[in-house]
Amino acid sequence: MNRADAETLDATDPLARFRDAFALPPGVIYLDGNSLGPLPRAAVERVALTVGQEWGQGLITSWNAAGWIEAPQRLGGKIARLIGAKANEVVVADSTSVNLFKLAAGALSLRPERRTLIIESGNFPTDVYVLEGVCALSGAMLKVLPPDEVLGAVDADTAAVVLTQVNYKTARRWDMAATTAAVQAKGALMLWDLCHSAGAVACDLNAANADLAVGCSYKYLNGGPGAPAFLFVAERHQAQIRSPLSGWMGHAAPFAFEDRYRPAADIGAMLCGTPPILGLAALEAGLDLQLEADPKAVEAKGLSLCRLFIDLVESRCAGHGLVLTGPRDMAQRGLHVSFAHPEGYGLVQAMIARGVIGDFREPDIARFGFSPLYLSHADVWDAVEILRDVLETKAFEAPEFRTRAAVT
Ligand SMILES: Cc1ncc(COP(=O)(O)O)c(C=O)c1O
Repeated sequence: MNRADAETLDATDPLARFRDAFALPPGVIYLDGNSLGPLPRAAVERVALTVGQEWGQGLITSWNAAGWIEAPQRLGGKIARLIGAKANEVVVADSTSVNLFKLAAGALSLRPERRTLIIESGNFPTDVYVLEGVCALSGAMLKVLPPDEVLGAVDADTAAVVLTQVNYKTARRWDMAATTAAVQAKGALMLWDLCHSAGAVACDLNAANADLAVGCSYKYLNGGPGAPAFLFVAERHQAQIRSPLSGWMGHAAPFAFEDRYRPAADIGAMLCGTPPILGLAALEAGLDLQLEADPKAVEAKGLSLCRLFIDLVESRCAGHGLVLTGPRDMAQRGLHVSFAHPEGYGLVQAMIARGVIGDFREPDIARFGFSPLYLSHADVWDAVEILRDVLETKAFEAPEFRTRAAVT
């Protein structure tokens, strides 16, 4: 394998045209779109329009005239197409953490006779923290179990199981359909966190008969820093589920200003307060772009980039102490690759200084994301050559790479 071979793979890339749709700085190979996606050029215009025209000129009339009030449902309908849901099963609102709080409590409302929630250990910390909060308020019990013990622990007291389809560190991917079926066979509900799935890997919530799901939009959906998140409630649960955050936007008639709460009968009941219009405007540009790409081609290219990265690191950087974390079988992984290394932090910093942006996860993980819309196989080749140089020159030992920044 050499750089020309990587270029040959790129020559038939059906997604190559998407690279120009992003305003990536020159000289940067961006391997952190699994944490914060880059800026879609269309977002600049879309946000300028929303600020200058809709807010500046339209003022409050834009809630109706510019479709602001329907934005959570409109964008939800767009995300639904990416995650195998119906348009009326998804809304965009709040953060992933807040949406998880609403749906975990909502799951307890759907299974009132059951008092246990189960989550995997090693999950992204907010998922466990949020469930701890839900259990503290509701009196339900939380079981935090290693992934391979989760399914065996589901019993008649389990209201819901919360799993992240693609693990944030290892990229291990759950089999969504088989796992959902196993959980539901015990009468429990299945709640998926799709933060590392949406816009990256195949995800078909309805085909898997999933009950509930949450996810963020600032990673592979390129919605921008702090972009509003999404949530999914299967149509069959919408009339019964209760959100613990009974805000006015989830009311059956928000503009009737009734004295008491009456939940909307549809997915709108999962809304709480006023939608963040500027964030939604940026996100819509990212979603419109993503919807132009064939999801099968997105996953196939992403896995091809990951496979090439793993092969090249293990061949060209052999003997430098990098250990692959997570599955080798492509069918069992998402679109980021993690290598453990005792100097993981310095390694990532030295690469960033050379224009290859990845990230570090405690305690020793150098993590690299392979977002298919703007990366090429040649980028992967170049990134590995830079990694090899950092390892061979021990550039990670430089004093400036020793002090950890607040955000790693
Ligand atoms: C699996 C998972 N869930 C949740 C989050 C973050 O949640 P929030 O958007 O509320 O910060 C992340 C962030 O990386 C994540 O990886």
